[in-house]
Amino acid sequence: MRVNKLAVIGAGSMGHQIAMLGALGGYSTVLQDLNEEALEKAKGTLEGIMDKWVKKGKISEGDKNEAFNRLTFTPSLEEAAGNADFVIEAVVEKLDVKREVFQQLDNIAPPQTILATNSSTIVSSLIADVTERPDRVCNMHFFFPALVMDCVEVVKGDHTSEETAQIAMEVSEQMNRTAVLLHKEISGFIANRILFAIQKEAMSLYENGYADFKDIDTITKKALSHPLGPFELLDLSGIDVGYYVMQQQYNETGNPLDQPPKTIVDKVEAGELGRKTGKGFYEYSENGRVRS
Ligand SMILES: NC(=O)c1ccc[n+]([C@@H]2O[C@H](COP(=O)([O-])OP(=O)(O)OC[C@H]3O[C@@H](n4cnc5c(N)ncnc54)[C@H](O)[C@@H]3O)[C@@H](O)[C@H]2O)c1
Repeated sequence: MRVNKLAVIGAGSMGHQIAMLGALGGYSTVLQDLNEEALEKAKGTLEGIMDKWVKKGKISEGDKNEAFNRLTFTPSLEEAAGNADFVIEAVVEKLDVKREVFQQLDNIAPPQTILATNSSTIVSSLIADVTERPDRVCNMHFFFPALVMDCVEVVKGDHTSEETAQIAMEVSEQMNRTAVLLHKEISGFIANRILFAIQKEAMSLYENGYADFKDIDTITKKALSHPLGPFELLDLSGIDVGYYVMQQQYNETGNPLDQPPKTIVDKVEAGELGRKTGKGFYEYSENGRVRS
């Protein structure tokens, strides 16, 4: 099977950059979102990033223009997936929403089309059963921000065919990302399982008063050589995103230790979601973090 046409569903923090990677990789790519404002924002953000890439000499003006010629934006799922060879879903991290989107995609996309989910934690077997093509469903997990982070986790469930997993690996490579293949499913995959263990421990140390969150970030960076501390990373990727991921894990395991910690719940309720709202654990202005 040859992949020529890509559809990315959901134009939020992840979807717009995944779509750009597809267009840069030579695929005719459609980015779809129910929310037309999200599509407008996606277009503006991508134009800004690509202009910077041209200025820095990362790509030529010609390459940029060709990539944008291959990239279209639409609120219509039919238009996006109707003739796609490969679909990457990047809507909100809620299982019921993803199941509904996959059911719609299964009705709209040609039978041979592969349907991949960019979920941070949800294994595709929890979604594949709403389709008539479970062998063509897999996880394809990009990292935030997708245009910067050179990695993808492709996860092959028992339902996923070998061919589907191989094609997802090839598509990742064509999008210029380093991909690893997980041969069986596990919620949270590799990177996030390691990250959650760190975040859980960091939050417990903070909530139990052992150290301030800023000092926990400092020691994680200085002693462990992490580029960002766990609280800085939560602010960067969105505290609400972290909340949904933790809630989803708890729904799957039923283990009270997997519940989102009080600090995260309080932040979400207060609308302090990190960089995107100007305040999370730290405060931000348009120019970056406000020193404190
Ligand atoms: N943010 C991260 O750090 C990160 C990293 C890796 C993976 N992910 C995963 O990527 C997915 C998207 O996360 P995000 O951070 O981009 O979320 P986001 O909230 O920024 O964007 C989600 C987008 O999906 C759209 N949407 C919602 N329902 C839709 C539907 N039925 N059809 C079409 N569009 C719909 C929303 O309008 C929104 O624009 C999630 O599964 C998340 O777990 C997120």
